[in-house]
Amino acid sequence: MHLSHPLFLLTLSLLSTLSTSQPSLSSLEQESLYQVLESINSDISWRTLFPDDLCYSSPHGVVCEYFTISGAGAGDESVHVTELSFGFVSDYSPNPPCNRHSKINVPALSAFKELKKLLFYKCFTGDEVPVPEFEGFSGVLEELVFIENPSLVGPFKGDIRSLSSLKRFVLIGSGVYGWVPPGLGELSSLEQLTFSRNRLSGDISGVNVSKLRNLKVLDLSYNGFFGNLPESFGGLESLLKLDLSYNGFHGEVPMSFKGLRKLEFLDLSYNRFFNCGVPLVLGEMTCLTEVYLSGNDLGGEIPEIWENLGGILGLGLSRNGLIGHIPGSMGVFLKNLCYLGLDNNKLQGEVPSEFGTLEMVSELNLENNSLSGEIPFDAKFVSKIGGKLKLKGNSQLCVDQELRVDDHLKHLKLCKKPEVPRLVLLHDSGSLVVLVSRVAIAISWGFSLFLIS
Ligand SMILES: *[C@@H]1O[C@H](CO)[C@@H](O)[C@H](O)[C@H]1NC(C)=O
Ligand SMILES: *[C@@H]1O[C@H](CO)[C@@H](O)[C@H](O)[C@H]1NC(C)=O
Repeated sequence: MHLSHPLFLLTLSLLSTLSTSQPSLSSLEQESLYQVLESINSDISWRTLFPDDLCYSSPHGVVCEYFTISGAGAGDESVHVTELSFGFVSDYSPNPPCNRHSKINVPALSAFKELKKLLFYKCFTGDEVPVPEFEGFSGVLEELVFIENPSLVGPFKGDIRSLSSLKRFVLIGSGVYGWVPPGLGELSSLEQLTFSRNRLSGDISGVNVSKLRNLKVLDLSYNGFFGNLPESFGGLESLLKLDLSYNGFHGEVPMSFKGLRKLEFLDLSYNRFFNCGVPLVLGEMTCLTEVYLSGNDLGGEIPEIWENLGGILGLGLSRNGLIGHIPGSMGVFLKNLCYLGLDNNKLQGEVPSEFGTLEMVSELNLENNSLSGEIPFDAKFVSKIGGKLKLKGNSQLCVDQELRVDDHLKHLKLCKKPEVPRLVLLHDSGSLVVLVSRVAIAISWGFSLFLIS
């Protein structure tokens, strides 16, 4: 049992030696706290273990704060419960442990008028617990966090606009279904909205989030939301992270997204953004560091939008039905790439020689395309990336004799080394210099050169 942990006892004894000249917790909050603790775990005799003022000798997970009534003389202080965290996290934060019968005692929780943070971690895993109505909760509540509570079920009930101080609303891994709570769009203090891995659903296209000016994180991943992405998302000018992966969103990514000036992380993977191509608006979102669009059947060729995206570290474009060549500009501009996934598309032509100069790259997945020609990597590059250089499923790709000794490249066929320039089809219109098998050939404007070996 967690209560016998040495840290727990140490805190207890320390706190009980504190001076008692401080204000005491009101009997309403004291009694409500016992009731909340009993609703979380009735196997523990809370009243016996903690007979004194619960702000002097409190279980881990209970935080109190002192308040001075402004304008009043000394001694006019009060103490209130400001944070409650339930569900054992670790030996260093042994919150009151939940059990299979844990419940949420809404009336008792509503007694804490200064409550700023309420957290339930792996708390509701047995008996079904309905989503509480949040209306009665403290108007100063800043953090409402539910993590891994599979038995928290049902739809949201009641309007939550009264939680006007709410900054973090986190609901991860629950059985909550239906639409988002009414009044959510009014919470203008909100900085983080993470509703990941629940059973939420509904058409989001008409949503207006224009009041959520302070939102930094919006994560609706792994739910059943669908519809077009709302134009109003583009007004979230503080947004740093947008994760909408694993839903049923479709249509084009609105041009209004260029208003997401600070966005660093964008994950739209595994939705139904079908046949609309790689969104060009990405090219204007210059703070991006991670972009994941895999599993959408976007179709089309990879556009030339990379010039201002040098901050990108991770780019996922797998399983998108992409056709055509891989633009060399990706290797030129995406200098900080650590991860690039272009696997399971229909890409053709050579791997751009510029990819061989990507110094930061630690995973490059080009599997299952129709790429051809000699791979542009040297021995140093290959040994650095090892098994994370993924090239299988490209039957026309070949490798030089010296590189083929590497275990990870044994599956590739050997390039035939011609004495004269080998068969290359070049169609290009700019003035460019192409190195073909160490022979430099200048090609002038506007024609294709067909060199026969
Ligand atoms: C969203 O609501 C605001 C007012 O709250 C309004 O000015 C704006 O036009 C709306 N945006 C959209 C896209 O409906
Ligand atoms: C490529 O296709 C093969 C056969 O369909 C599959 O087993 C493999 O997982 C695919 N590679 C990737 C990276 O998905």
